Amino acid sequence: MTSISVDRERIRELFDLRQQVGNEGYDDLPADPYPAFHELRSSGPVHPGTPHELLGIDREFGFHGLPEADRVHFSVFSWAECDAIYRNETVFRSAPRGAELITVDAHTSMRDAILKASMLVMNGPPHRRYRALVQPSFTPARATWWIDHWIDETVQSLIDGFAPEGRADLNVELAALVPVATITSSFGLSLDQALEVRSSLMGMGGRNLVELLHPIIAARREAPEDDLISVLCQAELTDDDGTTVRLNDTEILAFSFLLLTAGSGTTWKQMGTTLTALLTTPGALDALRTDRSLVKGAVEESLRWEPTDPMFSRWVAEDTELAGVKIPAESVVHIVLGAANRDPARWEHPDKYDVHRKLQQSFAFGNGPHICLGMHVARAEMVTAINALLDRLPNLRLDPDAEPPSIIGLYERGPSHVPAMWDPA
Ligand code: HEM
Repeated sequence: MTSISVDRERIRELFDLRQQVGNEGYDDLPADPYPAFHELRSSGPVHPGTPHELLGIDREFGFHGLPEADRVHFSVFSWAECDAIYRNETVFRSAPRGAELITVDAHTSMRDAILKASMLVMNGPPHRRYRALVQPSFTPARATWWIDHWIDETVQSLIDGFAPEGRADLNVELAALVPVATITSSFGLSLDQALEVRSSLMGMGGRNLVELLHPIIAARREAPEDDLISVLCQAELTDDDGTTVRLNDTEILAFSFLLLTAGSGTTWKQMGTTLTALLTTPGALDALRTDRSLVKGAVEESLRWEPTDPMFSRWVAEDTELAGVKIPAESVVHIVLGAANRDPARWEHPDKYDVHRKLQQSFAFGNGPHICLGMHVARAEMVTAINALLDRLPNLRLDPDAEPPSIIGLYERGPSHVPAMWDPA
């Protein structure tokens, strides 16, 4: 990859969380939902209602398990009960019973491709088979393949662009771009094409992913390269009767939609949140500067403290009971993993962002069979970016002249902006 040149205004327009098209704004959302989560958990781990209803927010949201207006909803706030749900996929399923997967084509919305056609909403053996096709590209050992092919160069090129200026909104100029460039490069798309995809997704014109990917899929079927789209083109799926088939274009597109959506917005917001935490917590950046082995822990701690997607859902297959609460079949259960990540039964001073905290698993990447496929890639992106910032931007600090950043959103949380400054060389 050669040095990336980006139109900064365009990037700002495409990635400002506060101005997303279709977003209803943040005014009616609590600035910090965690005090309410603590209160709810202390009166019982399981409550009837959706997370937003329980927070007193009266509007419709579209997310995993939402709106599903015809179903009964429950929300779960403790570590132990969330864990029990993750461990029981027979009762707590990733899709409603009888749900049919749809076919992805140029007219399918990204949302439908993810929520109606991807492995995120498959169950049992079909889910295992699909996941196994790409799993080898996402192991911890494979993280270096991602770093060496795409992540490192992307990070360095982006820093080249803003380093001389002495200040930047790192949320837009770095965090937003690293994940989207990484995943789209692994599909064989250029950053410009990636921005086109984003623009078309936001209803701002441009070719969509299907149009851009079709010719690449055809080319890789002919001549595979060392990238993810070639892995998908060559992958062989074994059916129930033992027949082996290659993925068709629709299946590859559904995979690509899932990876692009699951892999870019999430890591963008989590990287922004991590940088916000580091820039605003007294002593945190200095601790990392002195001891680089703390970078990994700083990332894990941000995942625990402010996971970008604090809720995911399951559909209940049969009547059951959770912490003494009766849950009828066909209900939707919302795993409020953000609340589980701050359960005082598991963490001391759970509301504190502490880069020295002893490592133990959080639920930021979920758990069980659907645990985040891309978690090692996401970690590699964040660790590589933070190390590069520390290497290259002397005296990196919060920009005192800018409005202080805040973490906003509910089902998808991330920083308003990340205003940073440093001493340019
Ligand atoms: C910090 C960034 C990320 C966070 C916090 C995150 C979080 C999650 C969570 C919580 C789930 C589980 C959903 C459930 O339980 O139903 C999940 C699933 C998934 N994630 Fe991530 N993710 C991140 C980055 C990525 C990246 C970089 C990729 C791909 C390159 C990715 C691909 C996926 C896929 C494919 C699934 C579905 C797995 C399955 O259903 O078996 N994610 N993610």
